[in-house]
This record gives sequence, C-alpha cells and structure tokens, in this order.
Amino acid sequence: MNAPTTSPPAIEARQLTKIYGSGNTEVVAMRDVSLRVERGEVVALLGPSGAGKSTLLTAVGLINPPTAGQISIDGVAVMDGARALVDLRAFRRQHLGFIFQKANLIPFLNALQNVQIALEINDVPVRVARRRALELLDYLGVADRASNLPETLSGGQQQRVAVARALANEPSLVLADEPTAALDSHRGRQVMELFRKVAHERGAGVLVVTHDQRALDVFDRSLEMEDGRLRDDTAAALSDVEALDAEPQKPLHGHGMLKGRA
Ligand SMILES: Nc1ncnc2c1ncn2[C@@H]1O[C@H](COP(=O)(O)OP(=O)(O)OP(=O)(O)O)[C@@H](O)[C@H]1O
Ligand SMILES: [Mg+2]
Repeated sequence: MNAPTTSPPAIEARQLTKIYGSGNTEVVAMRDVSLRVERGEVVALLGPSGAGKSTLLTAVGLINPPTAGQISIDGVAVMDGARALVDLRAFRRQHLGFIFQKANLIPFLNALQNVQIALEINDVPVRVARRRALELLDYLGVADRASNLPETLSGGQQQRVAVARALANEPSLVLADEPTAALDSHRGRQVMELFRKVAHERGAGVLVVTHDQRALDVFDRSLEMEDGRLRDDTAAALSDVEALDAEPQKPLHGHGMLKGRA
C-alpha cells in the first residue's frame, strides 16, 4: 500500500554540492543538485561513469557528507552542508536501508542471521528479530535458504538477502547503488521488481542507481546526472511529484520522463 500522501518526502535535498580534494586536485563531483523522492515511489538515477551518482546517493545516505546544501529525510532536517543535525549512525540505522553492488553479507552468518542482526543492533528482542527476519526472507522469496551461508547462495539470492537486511528496520528510504550490476539480466530484473514492490507495498521511497536500460520500466520515473548536475528535467521531475500528490493511485511507470531517451 502506498504511504498516505501527507507523509513527508523520503528525501528532500536542496542545492547539494560536493567538492573532493582541494587546490589543483579539486573535483566538483556534484553541484547544485536538488531533488525530492516521495515515500511510495521508486526512482532510477542514471548517468555516465563519473557523473556523481554515487556521490549523490552516499550524501543522501548520510555516508559521505555534502560540502554544501541541505538534506531532509522523512521530514527531519539531517544535514546542513557537512554539518550533521542529528546522530547520523542512529538515524541511518532507524530510517535508511542501503544496498550496494555486492551483497556484502557477513560470511560466517547464515541468511537468516544476516537479516536478524540488523534488527538486533536496533535493540529488537532476539525472538521478535528472528520472526521478522524470516518474514522478510519469505517476502523476498528466499525463506527456503534461511539457514544457508552466503557462499552457498547464488548472486541473486545473496542480493535478495541484502535487500531483506536493508528493509529489516522498515526504512522510510531505501538507496541502492548499481545493485544488479553483478547479476544476469533476468535476476537483475527480479531485484529491480522487488524495489518497486518495496516502494508500492511498503511505502518506502526508493532511489536506485542503475546502468541497466532494460529494467527502466520498473521505475515510476528516472533522473539523469551528468557532470555533477541533474539534467534540466529535474524541475519537471519535481512537478511530476506534485502530480503524484494529486493522483496517488495512478501508476506512473512507462511515463513521459523516459521517452526520447537513449
Ligand atoms: N573520494 C574521492 N576523492 C576524489 N574524487 C572522487 C572521490 N570519489 C569520487 N570522486 C570523483 O567524483 C566524481 C563523481 O564520482 P562518482 O563516484 O559519484 O560517480 P558515479 O556517477 O557514481 O560513477 P560510476 O558510474 O563510475 O560509479 C568523479 O570524477 C570521481 O572521480
Ligand atoms: Mg558510482
């Protein structure tokens, strides 16, 4: 079910800039990037290598602070420039789910334990954590692999466990950086469809960096970065969000933002 449209946006970022290094080695990886991702929508972030996609994702993921700009997550102002306005570790654990290119599961824990531990570090009692972890593995179609160690799972299964782990604490925002790059196109698509399900059924805002043109129809809309900037149609993307507010039931996939793109 979609989150009520009165929920604050999962991400509201204004005028983000990120400068790495200084002097001769200075790189402006992101400049004046503003974006909004609502809860209940799944958004693709596209663009060539070096465009700044990971920089943007890790900034809103509170892993890599911007040099300037403001970030609110789920209605809470969390960053003002490089200055944290909340306890970032605690906030990340409670509100964010992050999925990387590789599943990065803990090798000596089985699939169930890998999910369970994400709950336990948030002080969820062991028995409750175990039940919720099993439910999540079931939701992601890997419950029958619960007692497998990561090395005995396929890439797609590992990535599903990583998605389960990212969802364990019911994040309002799920961020994924090329999560299907290591998968074949069929398994990659299945993982992308899971993200859609997570947004539409669980009401999370989901932002996914991808190079996979074949799975773009899974997304409600897409944003494109180039040279550290979001392309001009960001403004259009923002008004699309307003249209989404007005008509929350309308499915948006296959809509205009993607047309006419390579
Ligand atoms: N830690 C760093 N120190 C210096 N420069 C960096 C650092 N991280 C990224 N950059 C530079 O910032 C720019 C944006 O990098 P970023 O990783 O965000 O791109 P990307 O769009 O994710 O690329 P890719 O598709 O290859 O993953 C690049 O020019 C990159 O070289
Ligand atoms: Mg990247």
